[in-house]
Amino acid sequence: MDNFDFPGLQRPRRNRRTAAVRGLVKETHLPVTSLVQPLFLVDGRGIRNEVTSLPGTFRLSTDECLREVEECLTSGVTNFIVFPAVPEELKDKTGTYGYDPANFYLQAAREIKSRFPEACLISDVALDPYNIDGHDGLVRNGRILNDETLPILAKMGIAQAAAGFDILGPSDMMDGRIGYLRQALDKAGFTETGIMAYSAKYASAFYGPFRDALDSAPKDGDDIPKDKKTYQMDPANQREALIEAALDTAEGADFLMVKPALNYLDVIALLRQNFELPIAAYHVSGECAMLLAAARNGWLDFDRAMPETLLAIRRAGADVIITYFAKAYAQMTQS
Ligand code: PBG
Repeated sequence: MDNFDFPGLQRPRRNRRTAAVRGLVKETHLPVTSLVQPLFLVDGRGIRNEVTSLPGTFRLSTDECLREVEECLTSGVTNFIVFPAVPEELKDKTGTYGYDPANFYLQAAREIKSRFPEACLISDVALDPYNIDGHDGLVRNGRILNDETLPILAKMGIAQAAAGFDILGPSDMMDGRIGYLRQALDKAGFTETGIMAYSAKYASAFYGPFRDALDSAPKDGDDIPKDKKTYQMDPANQREALIEAALDTAEGADFLMVKPALNYLDVIALLRQNFELPIAAYHVSGECAMLLAAARNGWLDFDRAMPETLLAIRRAGADVIITYFAKAYAQMTQS
């Protein structure tokens, strides 16, 4: 077209012309210091047992876990969220092993913190790794009890704070647990131990590989609910996340979490706009497994798709991202 007058003066492509210019206009940055690496712990020595549904993630005994933490620290990952895979014979109805002083998980936290005081350890506060029913609260007559569960969560939380965990991660979704935990911690003298509240945790299909790793799925039984829908949120709901986040803020949370991350980017953005507390997003096991499966089939380029995924969670408004790819991302951006 000879006599075409270009419409207007703006040409957005000018700011994409070279890598240097693109660097100037980059809006979202994802430093490794914002990432949290999950770790699965088992009792014993020399154990490094891969989770079949989450290749590249291992159940580690304490000695192997120390090695893993050291490698992560060397790559710049300084934050860890730790989960125990508890043998069936140590589980009971009320999850007493969760606060047993002999608990290998608590002992491992002590060892990690004494070897690497600079590492930040986040715990898991919930009954499901410890109770025979595979639920986050006490089960009685086919129901998950709320208020009766709180004192047990507090006992676990205090034991974890005493073991040296920096931040507690209540993932159970019982009502009132943040305030209950905060008070119990303060009364026990743990005023400096933080709480990362799983505020908007959805009853999601994307926790599968995690439940495989810990064998923590709800157990079969007449009087055991088959799902977690009476305490985890309905994936259809957004406004309800505001209610949960407001309660957790008022009850003394230090972080608000949205979980899962990818299918809930709108919820991350909503909490970011409405709250001043740091927002954490949990890029959960099933979300990571999807990417790995596609990459293994040659259908996606992992080295490009993974950082793009983490960046999307960041762009939505997450300050903190918990992802099974934390170490891989750190190693990728380091070189
Ligand atoms: C349970 C808990 C779950 C996850 C973290 N804590 C699973 C569940 O609620 O059943 C899932 C994390 C993941 O899938 O990566 N307290």
